[in-house]
Amino acid sequence: MSDVQGFIDENLGRFRSELYDFLRIPSISAKSEHDDDTRAAAEWFREKLTSAGLDAEIIETPGHPIVVGEWRGAGPDAPTVLIYGHYDVQPPEPLSLWDSPPFEATERDGRIYARGSADDKGQLYMHVKALEAHLATGSSLPINIVMIAEGEEEIGSPNLVPFVVEYSRRLACDVILISDTGMYAEGLPSVGFSLRGLAYFEIHVHGAVSDLHSGEYGGAVANPGNVLSRLVASLHAPDGSVAIDGFYDEVLDWDEATRAQIASLPHSDQDFASTLSVGELTGEQGYGTLERLWIRPTCDVCGILCGYTGEGAKTVLPNHAMAKVSFRLVPDQNPGRIKDLLEAHIETLDLRGVTIEVQELHGGRPWRASVEGPAFEAASEALEEAFGTRPVPMGGGGSIPIVVEFEEKLDATALLVGFSLPGCNLHAPNEWLPIDNFEKGIGALALLYEKLARVG
Ligand code: BES
Ligand code: MN
Ligand code: MN
Repeated sequence: MSDVQGFIDENLGRFRSELYDFLRIPSISAKSEHDDDTRAAAEWFREKLTSAGLDAEIIETPGHPIVVGEWRGAGPDAPTVLIYGHYDVQPPEPLSLWDSPPFEATERDGRIYARGSADDKGQLYMHVKALEAHLATGSSLPINIVMIAEGEEEIGSPNLVPFVVEYSRRLACDVILISDTGMYAEGLPSVGFSLRGLAYFEIHVHGAVSDLHSGEYGGAVANPGNVLSRLVASLHAPDGSVAIDGFYDEVLDWDEATRAQIASLPHSDQDFASTLSVGELTGEQGYGTLERLWIRPTCDVCGILCGYTGEGAKTVLPNHAMAKVSFRLVPDQNPGRIKDLLEAHIETLDLRGVTIEVQELHGGRPWRASVEGPAFEAASEALEEAFGTRPVPMGGGGSIPIVVEFEEKLDATALLVGFSLPGCNLHAPNEWLPIDNFEKGIGALALLYEKLARVG
């Protein structure tokens, strides 16, 4: 066993208790009442980077700060790896559905339960500990490191692109390494080959000057609830496809090799449906479940608001209705164009007697990578050594909008090596990370840093 792995094994208990300190800080980026906590998490993280042996500082933005850590001991001729992650978390609500407090890490059944355990504090901290293991044992780490931890990923990274542009020389790198995704299954590690993009809107339908008596006015005055329902219903065709004209124009066909890869993964629709307590799976005809999740775009209502929803019957014609509608995108779709298409689609419906407003919430472009090349190969080897199983290439249904921006602005390739599992409850009550993945993952990352020497 290497000194580095020996150091990791000896210190696992401490690593876990440090992570629990990190998880205790409610760094909820979306809520301004937690701004001080979010800053406290940045400061806590900066201090841990310093004690791991990196030079670290906090860089202010108009929003939550960015933590930057650097270690350039490998020298100017060695490759540089940029490690990115986020220290902010999603709000924990609804609190009543948590079996243990969201900001008090609790170990149960080999899992670490806490908000941020998997997304993304736990995974981000694994990098800090893998780096510490190298630096504390005086291994000759063959790569330079620049690490960025942002505090606004969960709110769409509004200040990260300007930061990347301003600091592009300092962030210059050969590979962008990110642990903010998952493994395909327990014991089956994965390297990511895609992420979907996102175009997220609020659609408002405004009617009369105020709510009205539904008997006195109903039938003669447009009802925003009825209109919005018609609008939402028009977004899909009976075959499950998105019924917006031009929506699929930019969708690239995936290559046969990738589709064959996907088809070769162990998967059962029946098991998948039963773990989710749904009778059957539905979606776009002509595609399997994994394809629908990873390589096909979607349209989903994420929230809807209208009229009287309290106890009993109130006969009222609401004057406003709103739906939050998100589109997950695949290459080469572009969030800006989706807004134009959606607005044109709404026009064609010829909805009368109301005004309709489409507000953009946030967006991001999709990402796709080659499953070959020295970085991908290095990750496959490191994961295989640490987990004892050859990793599988895996698509990502979620979005990390900054990935494409990093690649373009820094002219480097991204490498996604994640350690959460399906069912880890990201963004939901009872989020967890397997202790085993936390521990083996640190070893895998420590190995990966060595193997990335070859990407120069
Ligand atoms: N870590 C996730 C993204 C993710 C999760 C990718 C699972 C692949 C598999 C990230 O923190 C996230 O939640 N992203 C948001 C997008 C953002 C713009 C709010 C998402 O996907 O909804
Ligand atoms: Mn995340
Ligand atoms: Mn997230």
